[in-house]
Amino acid sequence: MYEVVTVKDNFDLSGRNTFRMKVRCARFVEYDSAEELEELDFGALPRPVLALGGGSNLLFTGDFPGTVLHGRIGGIRVAAETPDGGVLVEAGAGVVFDDLCAWAAARGLWGLENLSLIPGEVGAAAVQNIGAYGVEFGDLAAEVRCLELATRARRTFRVEECAYGYRDSLFKRPEVKGRFIVLSVLLRLGRAADPRLRYGNIRSALGTDAPESPAQVRDAIIEIRRAKLPDPADTGSAGSFFKNPVIPQAQFEAIEALTRAELGEDAAVPHYDAGEGQVKVPAAWMIERLGFKGLRAGNAAVWEKQPLVLVNATGAAAPEEIIALESRIIAAVWEKYGIELRPEVEHI
Ligand code: EPU
Repeated sequence: MYEVVTVKDNFDLSGRNTFRMKVRCARFVEYDSAEELEELDFGALPRPVLALGGGSNLLFTGDFPGTVLHGRIGGIRVAAETPDGGVLVEAGAGVVFDDLCAWAAARGLWGLENLSLIPGEVGAAAVQNIGAYGVEFGDLAAEVRCLELATRARRTFRVEECAYGYRDSLFKRPEVKGRFIVLSVLLRLGRAADPRLRYGNIRSALGTDAPESPAQVRDAIIEIRRAKLPDPADTGSAGSFFKNPVIPQAQFEAIEALTRAELGEDAAVPHYDAGEGQVKVPAAWMIERLGFKGLRAGNAAVWEKQPLVLVNATGAAAPEEIIALESRIIAAVWEKYGIELRPEVEHI
C-alpha cells in the first residue's frame, strides 16, 4: 500500500495558480508516484476532477467544486542513446519544465533551449503543446506515458497519436480530456548542434549565427523573455492570454488595407504564413493598435511590454476583473478587425 502524500479539503489555491486568483477547491490531492496515483479511490473523489500542473496556463473563474489533483512525479534520466547522436530523455510529469531545459542545456543536449523559462510542469507541457521561438513540445516528443484514471491502466501514446497542433493536442479533445493523467514524457534530444534561430530577434540577442552550445541559446532566450514578460515572482499572469489567430489571406489583405489607410502606405502588418492560404497575425499587434497596451482596469491590466499578457496588477484581482478585461479586448478586436480572439488560457 502506498500512502497518498496530501489530501486536503477546502484548499486555498492562490499559491497554486500563477494568476494568483484567491479561490478554493473542495479537495486537493497530491501524489508523488504513479503507484500512489493508482492507489487512489478515484470513484470517491468530489467531482469534477482537475489535473493541475504548475497552474500557469489557467484562470480559475471561481471556487472549484471538485478535486484538484497535483502530481509530483520527478526524475530526469537518459533512457537511450542512438548512434546518430540522438538522446532519449525521460522526465517525470511533475518536473518543472524549465528545470528540464536547464538540465539538458547543462549537458550540451540540443532541443529544449528555445523553450527556456516557460512556466509550468512537464505533464501540462505535453497536454498544452507549449511552444516558443519556433519550437513546440510536440517537435521534441517521442512518447507521452499516462495513466487512465477510470481503469488505472497505463497507456503510452506515441507522438503521432498525440495530434499535436498549435497549442493543441489529443489530450484537449472533449472525448479525451481529463481521462488520462500524464506520468512522464520521453523526449528526443540531440548531441549535434541544431540551433533554431529563425524566430524574431533570437539572432540579435545571441550576437552570433553559430552558437556553440544550447546553453548559449538558452541564455539569449531567457534575456528576451525577461525583457518582455512579467516576472512571475512579482506579477500574477498566465503568460499569453489569447491565441494568435489564423485567418484567410483575403481577410489579412483587408486588415492590411485598413492599416495603410490609417497609418500610411508604408505601414506593415506583422504576419506569418500558416500554409493553405492562411495567415497568422499576432494578437499582440491588434491589441496594441486598439490602445490596450498597458491599460489598467481595476486590479487587472494589459502588460505594458507584451499586450498578449493580461496580469493581476495589484495581486488582488478577482476572476471577474480579468474576465471583464478579456471581454473588452475580444469585443474591440471583433469590432475593428472582424476576428474573434480565442483565449489560450484555460478557464476553469
Ligand atoms: N507585437 C506587437 N506589440 C507588442 C508585442 C508584440 O505588435 O507589444 C507583435 C510584433 O509584431 C511581434 C509579434 O507581435 O513580432 C510577436 O510577438 P512575440 O514574439 O512576443 O510573440 P507572440 O506571438 O505575442 C507567442 C507565444 C508566446 C511565445 C512567443 C515567442 C502564443 C499565444 N504566444 O507570443 O508564448 O513566448 O510567441 O515564441 O502563441 C505563452 O504561450 O504563454 C507564451 C508566452
